Amino acid sequence: MGKLDGKVAVITGGSTGMALAGAKLFVEEGAHVFIQARRQEALDDAVKLIGRNVTAVQGDAAELDDLDRLYDTVKREKGSIDVLWASAGMGEPAVLGEITEEQFHRAFWLNARGTLFTVQKALKSSRQRDGCGV
Ligand SMILES: NC(=O)c1ccc[n+]([C@@H]2O[C@H](COP(=O)([O-])OP(=O)(O)OC[C@H]3O[C@@H](n4cnc5c(N)ncnc54)[C@H](OP(=O)(O)O)[C@@H]3O)[C@@H](O)[C@H]2O)c1
Repeated sequence: MGKLDGKVAVITGGSTGMALAGAKLFVEEGAHVFIQARRQEALDDAVKLIGRNVTAVQGDAAELDDLDRLYDTVKREKGSIDVLWASAGMGEPAVLGEITEEQFHRAFWLNARGTLFTVQKALKSSRQRDGCGV
């Protein structure tokens, strides 16, 4: 019996790197995993690698409509979320004193705004579904 038998997990940024490795592990432990990322080709490769019990939903974790579409898909296909891993993120090396407004915006748009709304929308979706509070 796996540690995640019957559980539903959502992993943003799940098409490559650590989150892809995590998605594979979650499936091996019995979960159905929804992965989100922007590039469809990388998502297709990830689905092939994971092999089963995985649904790819193309989208940007900082775009509210894309997050709604992600959670609508989960709700339609599996009903509820048990595990959320908000992994979509980015970083670019920059020297203090030379950081541009664009660099600041890119980092905070996804890492702060995207992560906040990824979590908030997951909680909101859970509350509507289960009647539990945040
Ligand atoms: N690797 C490190 O040493 C390290 C250190 C500290 C923190 N982190 C953080 O840990 C997380 C995973 O790191 P990693 O190196 O394993 O990642 P990675 O291989 O660079 O993968 C990043 C993943 O996030 C997706 N992604 C990027 N922007 C996105 C967006 N706006 N919306 C949805 N998905 C998006 C990418 O796919 P698309 O490009 O197709 O969207 C990809 O699937 C990241 O948040 C990273 O910033 C990593």
